[in-house]
Amino acid sequence: MCGIVGYIGEQQAAPILMEGLHRLEYRGYDSAGIALATGGELKVFKSKGKVRDLERLLPDHPKGTPGIAHTRWATHGEPSDRNAHPHCDARNRYAIVHNGIVENAGALRAQLEAKGVVFRSETDSEVLAHLIAAMDAETLIEAVRGALRLVVGTYGLAVLDSKRPDTIVVARNGSPVILGIGEHEMFVASDVSALVRHTQNVVHLDDGDVAVVRADGYETFTLDGGPIVRAPLMIDWQVESLSKGSFDHFMRKEIAEQPEAIRRVLSGRLESRFSTTHIGGLEFAARELLEARRIKILGCGSAYIAGCVGAQLIEQLARLPAHAEPASEFRYRNPVIEPDTLYIAVSQSGETFDTLSAVQEVKRKGARVFGIVNVVGSTIARECGRGIYLHAGPEVAVVSTKTFTSTAIAFALFAIYLGRLRDLSAANGARLLTALAALPAQVEAILAQEQKIATLARAFANTRDAYFVGRAAGFPVAMEGALKLKEVSYIHAEAYPASELKHGPLALIAPETPTVIVLPRDELFAKNTSTIEEIRARRGPTYVVTHPGTLPVTVDGVIEVPKSEPELDPILLNIPLQLLAYHVALARGTDIDQPRNLAKSVTVE
Ligand code: AGP
Repeated sequence: MCGIVGYIGEQQAAPILMEGLHRLEYRGYDSAGIALATGGELKVFKSKGKVRDLERLLPDHPKGTPGIAHTRWATHGEPSDRNAHPHCDARNRYAIVHNGIVENAGALRAQLEAKGVVFRSETDSEVLAHLIAAMDAETLIEAVRGALRLVVGTYGLAVLDSKRPDTIVVARNGSPVILGIGEHEMFVASDVSALVRHTQNVVHLDDGDVAVVRADGYETFTLDGGPIVRAPLMIDWQVESLSKGSFDHFMRKEIAEQPEAIRRVLSGRLESRFSTTHIGGLEFAARELLEARRIKILGCGSAYIAGCVGAQLIEQLARLPAHAEPASEFRYRNPVIEPDTLYIAVSQSGETFDTLSAVQEVKRKGARVFGIVNVVGSTIARECGRGIYLHAGPEVAVVSTKTFTSTAIAFALFAIYLGRLRDLSAANGARLLTALAALPAQVEAILAQEQKIATLARAFANTRDAYFVGRAAGFPVAMEGALKLKEVSYIHAEAYPASELKHGPLALIAPETPTVIVLPRDELFAKNTSTIEEIRARRGPTYVVTHPGTLPVTVDGVIEVPKSEPELDPILLNIPLQLLAYHVALARGTDIDQPRNLAKSVTVE
């Protein structure tokens, strides 16, 4: 998705902005650009393609400060040099970078064209530059405010005025804008990862905020009213966590970080004295949680699938009906929101637009919601106001790995907590706490099998279609395994409940279509081995992820994971499927960290 970087201070802006754009590359984009204020004029460079293509356009040591820069992910208008941001008004006085969508761009464009404005791009964003120029206001903030009052849509916006280079004005409505506070310098970004090299002291703007940013500080206002206080927050991300270190890919690094990420999500949250868990950010009185009659979990993609794991954990441990639904569907179907349902919003980035909209809908209709989020201070975290932070550290690869695992564990913590308020016995609580504490070492044991998994991955390298099946607790694992494989390898991968196979999908089984079977040693083991027999009878290759022990069927490949407690088994069964997807992608030579067409956080509808 689109990214914004801005700088104002004594340094030349270009090196800072270019470094910031590189930090945003992981989000997915198709073009990039930069605008610098110098000598009362704007210098603008933009290019389709990667940030390194933009770098080739820049002169040596480009001069100018302040500056704004952008990575674009096309919505209105194809990826091209002229559609890349920044966009300028006709006199090249103002430059804007914009994330989001101007929904009434067509009407505004027609009005501006009727007044003689000639557009240079097909984007919806360009109208903002012309509207700001048309305001003829005393100050840049008044020009920006005047323009935004005419706009319907979403924006994270940064605006530069070449005649008033002491200021950058930024505004937010539905798309994140964060300020970074430095020593006599200020930074602007749409994502904290573009700021952490310079500062950990950040200010998150809220929807409806407009800010005037100067080298020596910032002031925040509402779009229509007066000043409003937005206090700074210290973030705990280290710049090293944004580099690949000794790994070839962020995905591989983040898979390897899982034992540490698990330790962090568990840290301080296991309360052995009462065989329960302690979740500081939840802020619900026990009575409030006991009033909940059902739980509804909302998220997208892997966050939704982690929610499916979570729903099963809650049903098993707390014996409350729980159900996960893609937030992207929920928000469009005028959902029935009941006051005795507790909602949980799941989002690694905390910025996914569909999930945010679902949270807002739930709140608007008066229900309680909490978040399971990785990025501290992100929009969904703030919108929910309470919840569980994963503390997994930044996840840079577009595909989620460590945050999926940490989210599933956060659900286990919540399910144990809720269970112990209801009728989960102390003995069962203690059993699960011991199992949770054992997970980091067990994940390390799975990661140690990487070579074996890499060898097995070769069997998938030339495959066109692959299937993943699992029953009950194994089904979300199959879903996540299929999603990972399709995202990074571009192999068509589908997940089916194993029990549904003979109701249709069995027609797809053939010698050239491998099936991965999630086969925990649980009460469904015999049923699952029958499924394997059915696939083998159609000469389909079978690969199983299972627990140690003899298999009663012959299969083409086996990956074994250590046994946990049955409720937590899905967490471990998923890890080898991450490595499988990674090694299949490696064998196929795809862009593993930035798969085609995908973005790290989907901040548009
Ligand atoms: C996961 O591998 C995906 N890239 C994607 O499905 C992701 O989980 C989804 O877009 C939700 O993102 P979020 O957790 O940041 O809200």
